Formats: sequence, C-alpha cells, structure tokens
Amino acid sequence: MCGIVGYIGHKKAYPILVKGLQRLEYRGYDSAGVALISDGGHLNVYKAKGKVADLEAYCEDKDTTGCAGIAHTRWATHGEPSSTNAHPHYSASGRLALIHNGIIENYLTLKEKLISFGIPFKSVTDTEVLVQLIEHVMLSNSLTLLEAVQVALHQVIGAYAIAILDREHPDGIVCARQSSPLVVGLGADGDFYLASDASPIAEYTDTVAYLNDGDIAVLQLGQELKVVNIDNEAQHPKVKQIDVTLGQLEKGGYPFFMLKEIFEQPACLRDCMRGRINVDADRITLSAVIDYRECLVSARRIVIVACGTSWHAGLIGKQLIESLCRIPVEVEYASEFRYRDPVIYPDDVVIAISQSGETADTLAAIELARQAGAFVFGVCNAIGASIPRQTQTGVYIHVGPEIGVASTKAFTGQVTVLSMLALCIAHERGTIRDDQYREMVRELTLIPAKMEEALLRNEQIERLAPIFTYARNCLYLGRGYNYPVALEGALKLKEISYIHAEGYPAAEMKHGPIALIDSEMPVFVIATRDHLYDKVISNIQEVRARGGRITAIVTEGDTQIQKFADHIIVLPDTFECFQPLIASIPLQLLAYHIAVCKGKDVDRPRNLAKSVTVE
Ligand code: M6R
Repeated sequence: MCGIVGYIGHKKAYPILVKGLQRLEYRGYDSAGVALISDGGHLNVYKAKGKVADLEAYCEDKDTTGCAGIAHTRWATHGEPSSTNAHPHYSASGRLALIHNGIIENYLTLKEKLISFGIPFKSVTDTEVLVQLIEHVMLSNSLTLLEAVQVALHQVIGAYAIAILDREHPDGIVCARQSSPLVVGLGADGDFYLASDASPIAEYTDTVAYLNDGDIAVLQLGQELKVVNIDNEAQHPKVKQIDVTLGQLEKGGYPFFMLKEIFEQPACLRDCMRGRINVDADRITLSAVIDYRECLVSARRIVIVACGTSWHAGLIGKQLIESLCRIPVEVEYASEFRYRDPVIYPDDVVIAISQSGETADTLAAIELARQAGAFVFGVCNAIGASIPRQTQTGVYIHVGPEIGVASTKAFTGQVTVLSMLALCIAHERGTIRDDQYREMVRELTLIPAKMEEALLRNEQIERLAPIFTYARNCLYLGRGYNYPVALEGALKLKEISYIHAEGYPAAEMKHGPIALIDSEMPVFVIATRDHLYDKVISNIQEVRARGGRITAIVTEGDTQIQKFADHIIVLPDTFECFQPLIASIPLQLLAYHIAVCKGKDVDRPRNLAKSVTVE
C-alpha cells in the first residue's frame, strides 16, 4: 500500500526522504510527495503523479532545504492518482502537512461536518479530512498538535498510520498508528527516522521502535521518544535491533529485484533452515513447537488463513500436514473467512501466513480466530510486523526483505517453514516413522542445491519466453502438490505480464476449461515424477489432442513427456512433497522473462501493491 517516510534531525531531510521513498516504492507507486520545513521556516509541500523519479524531477528547481520532513508514496484508494490527491495534504491554513496510510471509514461524515464549519477541501481523499479535522480541533480549542491529534483520533473510525509536520514547531513530528504499520528509527545523534517498514531506516540506524496500535509518538529533537495513546497514557513500544544489510535492499547487479530474489532462493532457504535443522541433517527444532507442543500436537483441526501467494503456500501446507500429521486442514482466503461467520473451535490451530505480516484481511482473520479462542500461529517474513505481534507464536521464514511486488522467495520460504512444521508435528505425534522423518529432513536440506540446478534453466527459459508474449490466455496444470504450483505460476504471469492465466487441477480441466484449448493457447504442465505422473501424461494427451501448445516441467531422466510436449524444462528429482520448491522456479523465471520481453516494469506492476493494508 502507501509508504511513509519521515526524518527530523541535524542532516538535510530531502535526500533521506527521497531515498526512503525509493526503498518504499514497492509498496505503492501511483504518486508521491514530500513536505519540508525549509531553513527559512516555510512549510513546503511538493507532489507529483507517477513514480518517485517524477517527484524528484518536479523538485529540481524547488527549495528543498530543511532538516524536518515527511514523504509519501501512494497507492490510490479514495480518488484517482493525481498530484492533487497525492500526499502530503496541507491543512486549510497551511500550517500542518499530513501523510496517511490506511482508510478512514467515516471520512464522509467527518467531511460534511468540517464543510459546515466552512473548511475547504482540495482533494477527494479521506486523508485530507484527517488534516482538516486535526487543525480544526487544534485551532478552535487552542490545543497543542499532540492534544489535537488525540482529540481528532477519538472521532476517527478506520485504519491509519499518519505523520504530521507543524510549521509552528519545526523541531517535531507527531505520528500515530492504528492497523497500519509504523516504525521509528532512533539515530545515534538524537535524530529520528520514521517509516512504514524498516527498509528506509536500516542504512541510518539499527535501533527501531515498532509502534503498536493506538500509539501516538512525538519525535522531538533533543528529547527521548515519547509515546502515548489517545487518552494520553504513556506507552512503551519495544525497542529492537534490526539486522537488515544494505545489500538486501539493493539490486546487486540484477536488472530487477524480482530476478535477484528468484536467484537468492537457495541462499534464503539455507537461512530459513539454519539453526532449525541440526548439522547432521536429521532433526528439526522449532522453538514454537517446543513451547506450544500440546496445542499443536493435540489440534483437532488446523485452519490456514492467507491471501494471494501466501494462500498458495497454505494449499501446499495442507497437503503436507494432512499426509504427515493426519490432522485435517482447511485453507481459507482470509478475506472470505473474516466475513463468513466460520465455525472455529477453541482447540483449533489457526495458521496465518503472510510475507509482509501487515495484510489487513489476514490480520482481521487472526482477530476473529483469537476471539473464538483458537490458538493462532504466524508464518511471516517481515520481522516485527503486526502478524508476529498478534499471534501467540510462530516461525519467521527469514528470507530477507522481499522488494519485488511479485512474491517469489517468500513463497518458497513459506513452503519450507510449513514443511519443517509438518515434520516437527508429525514427529511429535508419532504419525511418521523415525527413519522416514530423518530421510525427509535430509532431503529438505538438499533442496537449496537442487534449486541451484533448477536455476541453471534460466537461459533456456529466457530463450523460450518470446514465444509466449503473443498469448492472451495461458493455462497452468498440475495435480497433487503441483496443483498449487500451477496456481502460483499463473498468478505470477498475470501479475507482471498482464497476460490472463488460469491455474487448474489437471484432471479438472476436462470439466470445462478444455473448451478453451486451441493452437493459440499455451499450456504449462507441471509433470514431475510423482504418484500421479501417469495420470498427468493422460491429461497432457487430452490437451495435445485439441491442438494445445504444451510446455512441460519434467523430472530429469524423463523420456515419456517429450513425445507429447512442444518444450520441456528438466528439473532435479526430489520427494513429491518438496517438488513445489523446485518446480516453482521455472515458472517464476518464465513469468519474469515474458514480462521483460513485453517491456513491463516487473518490480512495480500496474495496480498492485506489495503490502495490502486495506481490505
Ligand atoms: O504479505 P502477504 O503475504 O500477506 O501478501 C498476500 C498477497 O497480497 C501477496 O501474496 C500477493 O498475492 C503477491 N503480489 C503475490 O505475488
């Protein structure tokens, strides 16, 4: 969604803010803006439609002096992308400037009230209502900015992370959070940094405070960080050390973050398993399973809630847990689960999967599960995000910051964590033989090396990609563990190349989608060697018989499928349940190269945002 950056200190704010916006651009990128209190004491607001580079161009001849500023990159919710609707928004008198991430649900009611007081509005955003409300409350009651924010937020319904500059108090920023992330960086020299996530802060300080819902923070130069709630009670957010290297935030010679992140996967999975699988590669230790053994081992049912790619990882998790642990698993779209009045038992375990840890629907599903008394377990990548803080326990996937909007390494990290979790629970429940457990743990440790082999197919896939750029529709087929791989492959293609694609269980195709198949329709089949291999060959023949163009992902040594397929991509063999970790790689690469051939902005596909913090 939108990205927030702020700085107040002794350095020039503008370059820090612009660099921060560039790091956050993956969150939203239809317009951007910056507010600065200049050396001359003016509150300057500059905004531009488009990317951060457009804002920079716009600011070239502007006064960008000043050591206090806030900046924003927007993903439009209320009002089209335009410089008027972009943030920051001025208050009516021009004294305040405010940036906002989230949605103010009662903004129309508040706006009508403010208009009746004669307050003018320039934009159609919900955000402008906030800044006008705060200034109205402040001026009509002679309050400080902090007091006015507290009074105003009492009237607000919705989700927000906000930051406000006050021209009359150039040495402070007031910010607040409710259901939308906000991190404060504490610089060694008393400077404060502010951002929606730690990535813009990491190069300046490793000491951060993650604000909690309801927190209002005052970043006052020369003073300690002050955090209160809307009733002015002191709050104490945890101060943590973050461990994000600059290299993780940059492209490292790759043309796009997505390609870098695809190639990082072997290293990421080693990181994910490090310290959890012992050096003899025969035992997994997850502290969450040790600490909450009883809840997990005696679960009557497991419900997985997630969205998008994380939901696909959940479908693989279901198969792993059901087959290894013999616990029934349901996989739910968080957005459906939260509004469906689902049956949740107190002895259910709800696993919430999210790369960002900030997805609004997944957070709401967690809240619902908690209220019903279920035990809630998080699988998350972003350290310190809302989901790990709102779940009883969980496992980080530890794959490092994922910047490309299309999720790649987070997906394989999630599947790896779910594999380790399923193996741990199965071992504790005694639903897996000891020798089988050891064999599987060992095989899991071999996956990164097998991924490296799969990545050697990159050049072949790059050569194939131009063939598919003409396509208007593509079909992805798989069965068993490879069905979610087909769904994920289709999602990747849709997201970044804008070619319509469907993932389908291969056998289900004949119940409808087969009608679509003709010689114009590329069909990607994941046909690795598993217990459904012969069945998948039959499905391939069904496609072939209707003139479909088949590209098959096969296991090394396969001699059958090349007889029926137009193209084959050969992958190393592994256990059936770990096949998604390998088979996803060529599909990620295929989507990437097709999108590049079509000249698309792979890291910032249109209309999407990395972290969907609104429902
Ligand atoms: O951060 P989350 O894992 O909760 O995000 C869920 C989805 O928004 C996300 O996976 C989305 O589908 C990605 N763009 C997929 O590439």
